[in-house]
Amino acid sequence: MEYIVLKGQNRLAGEVNINGAKNAAVAIIPAALLVNDICVIDNLPNVEDIYCLIDMLTRLGAKCEFRDRHCLVIDSRGLTFQPATYESVMKIRASYYLLGMMLGRFKKAEVALPGGCNFGTRPIDQHIKGFEALGAKVTIEHGMVKAVADELVGTNIYMDVVSVGATINIMLAAVYAKGVTVIENAAKEPHIVDTANFLNKLGAKIKGAGTDVIKVTGVEKLSGGEYTIIPDQIEAGTYMIAAAVTHGDVIVKNIIPKHMDSLSAKLQEMNCQIEEGDDYIRVTAGHNLVGVNLKTMSYPGFPTDLQPQMSALLSTCNGDTSVITETVWDNRFQYVNELKRLGCNITVEGRVAVIEGASCLTGAEVKATDLRAGAALIIAGLASSGETKISNVKYIDRGYEDVENKLKSLGANIRRIEE
Ligand code: EPU
Repeated sequence: MEYIVLKGQNRLAGEVNINGAKNAAVAIIPAALLVNDICVIDNLPNVEDIYCLIDMLTRLGAKCEFRDRHCLVIDSRGLTFQPATYESVMKIRASYYLLGMMLGRFKKAEVALPGGCNFGTRPIDQHIKGFEALGAKVTIEHGMVKAVADELVGTNIYMDVVSVGATINIMLAAVYAKGVTVIENAAKEPHIVDTANFLNKLGAKIKGAGTDVIKVTGVEKLSGGEYTIIPDQIEAGTYMIAAAVTHGDVIVKNIIPKHMDSLSAKLQEMNCQIEEGDDYIRVTAGHNLVGVNLKTMSYPGFPTDLQPQMSALLSTCNGDTSVITETVWDNRFQYVNELKRLGCNITVEGRVAVIEGASCLTGAEVKATDLRAGAALIIAGLASSGETKISNVKYIDRGYEDVENKLKSLGANIRRIEE
């Protein structure tokens, strides 16, 4: 079993490069299968979720080859219709994008229900609502979501909840639909814009991505093309928080600073200094950090995927009380019990966590309960005295490329061991 072992309280300083956005990549890779051609996708993060997805694509008959560590060539000319089984869906939940892709390309889809996960139920009713509105008949049989349509016809779809997955999935299904599909109350996350830009580069006609009304005018054909994925907003945010928790001075490079606005504002409220360049943010933090309250929201609000890392940071604001309200997921505080092992003083009631900042956190053995929970344990470990040993590293590897080497280059005492 692999562990990440950290000796905390080193001040981080220097520069760190951010990789491509995982959540854009897991949408763009299935989107590439809409084309009966070759797509070249660059700036892919080298993380486990991507390998799981490539494995699924290969089973469907696509040929995937890495041109280099971050550049994937996908040839989907040999793609055949095949169900995506529970085994593969359990490995990566974003495999629900295969539903939209299959429906768009084959007018039928069969993908196992994603089920629940460590931070709440993960319904796909809004995805299904969108597919049905486009004219598909959707059934759930023996744990498989099956969709079939004679033809898909554009229409107005009003989303009852703001959902990243449903917005992208409906876009994928609507690309070849007849006429115009209008998605209202759409999610606005940067990876939605990135997926739309990718599809437009292949010949799709999608307008309004990044606003809450997206218009997809159906086309008859897409062609292959090359595309470079945007930087990862959540990876960038995690290193910004790491800089703050160690009272460090870190330049987080190769990012889109605008995507970081909600976090930058919070860190400034905590007394961090934020300097923005065209493609970097420098975070400088002293010992005068103060607690703040925050509420997670869909973009451009504060991202739920940085909420656990912020809990760890706020736990170090000695003498201050902070309140975090989680509005996106119904159960995203499961990691709190692990943070408590490091001395964090957090009380959770429903969707609200009250954090009492401590003078010092102390290293311990802990377990990552999901990807961002794992990142929060690293953040807390960086601030702790003594040694922190994190198990379930596989979760962290799903979304962070080379995390221990990046942190080591900034001055952290961190290593990966196998026991
Ligand atoms: N929801 C519904 N019905 C639906 C879909 C969603 O009620 O049909 C609810 C969910 O239960 C949740 C909320 O809507 O309460 C938002 O869910 P959304 O669909 O936006 O989430 P997602 O697409 O499944 C993506 C990211 C998550 C991130 C959320 C929210 C990917 C692959 N995953 O999930 O990222 O937390 O958006 O921003 O893009 C992560 O990277 O660690 C991660 C979990």
